[in-house]
Amino acid sequence: MASWPYLNSSTMLSKPKHPNPSFCLHDFPNPQHSSSSFSFTASPIAAVNSATRRCRQTNRRSSLILASTDKPREPLKIMISGAPASGKGTQCQLITSKYDLVHIAAGDLLRAEVEVGSANGKKAKEYMEKGQLVPDEIVVMMVKDRLSQPDSAEKGWLLDGYPRSSSQATALEAFGFHPDLFILLDVPQEILVDRVVGRRLDPVTGRIYHLTYSPPETEEIAARLTQRFDDTEERVKLRLQTHNQNVESVLSMFEDITIKVDGSLPKEIVFAKIDSALSDLIHQKKNAILGTTAT
Ligand code: AP5
Repeated sequence: MASWPYLNSSTMLSKPKHPNPSFCLHDFPNPQHSSSSFSFTASPIAAVNSATRRCRQTNRRSSLILASTDKPREPLKIMISGAPASGKGTQCQLITSKYDLVHIAAGDLLRAEVEVGSANGKKAKEYMEKGQLVPDEIVVMMVKDRLSQPDSAEKGWLLDGYPRSSSQATALEAFGFHPDLFILLDVPQEILVDRVVGRRLDPVTGRIYHLTYSPPETEEIAARLTQRFDDTEERVKLRLQTHNQNVESVLSMFEDITIKVDGSLPKEIVFAKIDSALSDLIHQKKNAILGTTAT
């Protein structure tokens, strides 16, 4: 297993694409430290230490949303990316339940349009059935509109499955949306097909299940589970092909803020690693604010 967090150094850019990032990955904890024992690299400040203690206590109650005092004053702006079925949606449910960010999933926005049968939905479905990217003219404005809602600005956002091309990334930057962190879930291809074919969704709670890895808790839930129209072996192979064609161009635009997480591990372990990175990011942001205030 690869150590974490780490930069994909083989593709590191000499000049960051983000001229003014809210934090720097060099400030991330040493990969040799475990996720529960790393120390922060910023100079110790009483207020920050106190916040650190509070944050660690909160970590132990992972199902609870962070207390308002633990939130950074500037909301988190996170992107999560990975191949089909790498676990983006699963991790987003865990992240939002703790960090209370607005979860914006490009796939969910598109499926909602398909569901209501709008003109955009009809067009999008043609592409989704073929495992191809829906054209930018539909996706970009959809995501931009959701990011522009007051709750996204106030609580912070967790963008799932967007951008999937360099043109989508460029559009987001042009609209003034700059992420703090880009999480890449790394899962070997042979695991992904199995995950897609076994995935089921609960239409009542929105929870994601897997018939083998995350089975429903009761017979009642099992009876109402549904399957996505693009979750067949044939279609996931097409989706994977599309992902592989586009992933490098997106990664190259965010590598200065990217963490790569081994998504083949159990979901709780994957979340612990992401949780650790987000806690650290919060402290980086707080320290940046304190530093600004002090000068
Ligand atoms: P989208 O809905 O985003 O699908 P995707 O990228 O293919 O990703 P998935 O939702 O399939 O998987 P996931 O990573 O969320 O995994 P999950 O957590 O559910 O996009 C669908 C389509 O819309 C695209 O093909 C495209 O056509 C279009 N589209 C979307 N965004 C677009 C964009 N920006 N531009 C243009 N077109 C766009 O997990 C999967 C399964 O694995 C579950 O059963 C889960 O229980 C299980 N699992 C999760 N984690 C683990 C684990 N750690 N261990 C074991 N099992 C696990």
